[in-house]
Amino acid sequence: MLSAGGYLPADVVSNDELARRYGLDTSDAWIQERTGIRQRHLAAPGESASSMGIKAAAQALERAGVDASEVDAVIVATATPDSSFPATAVRIQAGLGITRGFAFDLLAACTGFIYALSVADAMIRTGQCRTALVIGAETYSRILDWTDRTTCVLFGDGAGAVVLRAEEGESGILSSHIHADGRHGGILHVEGGPGSTGGTGLLRMAGREVFKHAVTKLASAVDEALAANSLAREDVTWLVPHQANIRIIDAMGRKLHLPRERVVVTVDRHANTSAASIPLALAEAVGEGRFKPGDLLLLEAIGGGLTWGATLLRW
Ligand code: ACO
Repeated sequence: MLSAGGYLPADVVSNDELARRYGLDTSDAWIQERTGIRQRHLAAPGESASSMGIKAAAQALERAGVDASEVDAVIVATATPDSSFPATAVRIQAGLGITRGFAFDLLAACTGFIYALSVADAMIRTGQCRTALVIGAETYSRILDWTDRTTCVLFGDGAGAVVLRAEEGESGILSSHIHADGRHGGILHVEGGPGSTGGTGLLRMAGREVFKHAVTKLASAVDEALAANSLAREDVTWLVPHQANIRIIDAMGRKLHLPRERVVVTVDRHANTSAASIPLALAEAVGEGRFKPGDLLLLEAIGGGLTWGATLLRW
């Protein structure tokens, strides 16, 4: 992984402002106590997964010192594409002026970025591409029920991107471990969609049920990733988790015996940006120069499907 970039919409909405704007019976205290969220960014009319993805990718390429013309794969994890097709990845490819290689979207809800890293890594290892842009880009504000306080306070919009390149050496992705179990699809889903109701559909979540699955499934994916590389929990330098809830993040940090300063946290400012949350966290940490060569990064996520997974990478 050469570098990471991110983009967040300009409209920063505090919990109090959100409650006012949508007439919600909630409070800043409830939201912060249960989730750690203080604010989120919301996309402006006209902003979309592709327009934000282009900006995130441009920053990632600039930081990596890679020209867009060198990219031969664009993989976008999103549950909120601009439209059914062309894929958001193809729109981003065009927006960056890339005319070669391939581009496609992948959907695994909040686990989308881990899935996309897994796919990109496998394609690089099998020689199908050399330089890949892996992007998470979401506009969940468009699929939220703004009358449902149990879900609409939890999410935000944004995009994050990383540049992967086939290179010899110690750094890079060690392995990814992805899982799905559709028996639990009903606890976190979008009601309706282009192929059923013809519309976009709205997000529904049984939060407490998702919470119950989160810590056990994330812990098992993390242990699987460490075991596959003969590494121990103590070897992890940084935890870069999906940013859904500070209580889940803290539980994972405790399991790994990592102090809070070794956990990249953005949920307080970004809320849950689904597939964009991990690359946005990576982008922020890279911007602050937090990762040093040789650091071991552990990425993990769980989301709708249910889907979950973990990636280990050497910086
Ligand atoms: N403001 C005020 N009160 C609220 C709000 C709100 N925004 N939302 C719910 N409440 C009330 C409920 O109505 C309930 O009231 P009641 O007891 O009178 O019925 C009470 O607060 C408690 O509700 P719970 O849902 O039990 O609250 P909980 O402590 O479980 O917190 C939360 C809810 C934050 C959603 C939590 O369950 C959670 O984080 N779940 C995991 C979500 C997650 O990780 N998702 C991951 C992936 S997301 C993706 O893939 C798209």
